[in-house]
Amino acid sequence: MPARRPFVFGNWKMNGLGSDALALAAALKAEGRPAEGTLAVFPPFTQIAVVAQHLEGSGILVGAQDCHEAAKGAYTGSISAGMVADAGATAVLLGHSERRHGLGETDSQVRAKAEAALAAGLDTLVICIGETEAEYLDKATLQVLDRQIEGSIPAGIDVERLVVAYEPVWAIGTGRTPTIEEIGQVHAHLRQKLVAHLDGDGSTVPIQYGGSVKGSNAGSILAVPDVDGALVGGASLDPAEFTKIFTAGGGRFAASGS
Ligand code: 13P
Repeated sequence: MPARRPFVFGNWKMNGLGSDALALAAALKAEGRPAEGTLAVFPPFTQIAVVAQHLEGSGILVGAQDCHEAAKGAYTGSISAGMVADAGATAVLLGHSERRHGLGETDSQVRAKAEAALAAGLDTLVICIGETEAEYLDKATLQVLDRQIEGSIPAGIDVERLVVAYEPVWAIGTGRTPTIEEIGQVHAHLRQKLVAHLDGDGSTVPIQYGGSVKGSNAGSILAVPDVDGALVGGASLDPAEFTKIFTAGGGRFAASGS
């Protein structure tokens, strides 16, 4: 991952049909090529190919929201990392809380998926971590995040291909966010933890904050040291709001068509 802030990624989750995805991609493309920072979108599996084709050459990355840990086999309904790469994705989200907590995905499964994504040649792995509200109230946040980092991120990973997204589960889709001070404390801790876990190589790994990021709070969140970007859910379905988040964090577009 080229180390240029901000890294603003849109997770479209399970929303929209092909025509909606194309309209969203077209609206983003109309803003021009990202000249400063890195933009990426993560459509549902069935829309990856059409979005990737539409965004080819735009400088906006396209990723999948998950992949299976096996390369192939008898896994009805599953999609491998090689398949998402074949559809045109160059990135993948792994260990999103809606999979960890909704579908019981474990740290070791997330790590196995990361190994599969690396083996399939995907350029960018966004590994998501975050504490639940009960853990937050229990003041166990840092402990939970340490455990997730140790369990989910392969220690020998090529750090150039890694992005870490910190998403407090209780902040996702709720309109609530930690305070700026809390975000700063957690991200400073994550930086130290990544450096330790990745044998000193973690100092350049982008760390995104995610959870109820919108145009109006992006400026203050993205100004926090060690917040290198945002992983955006709901607001990424509104192209104007999504680009507002990107520009609030210092992202810039080159002139349209250049
Ligand atoms: P919201 O931005 O809708 O809170 O979702 C965040 C998220 O889960 C991104 O992966």
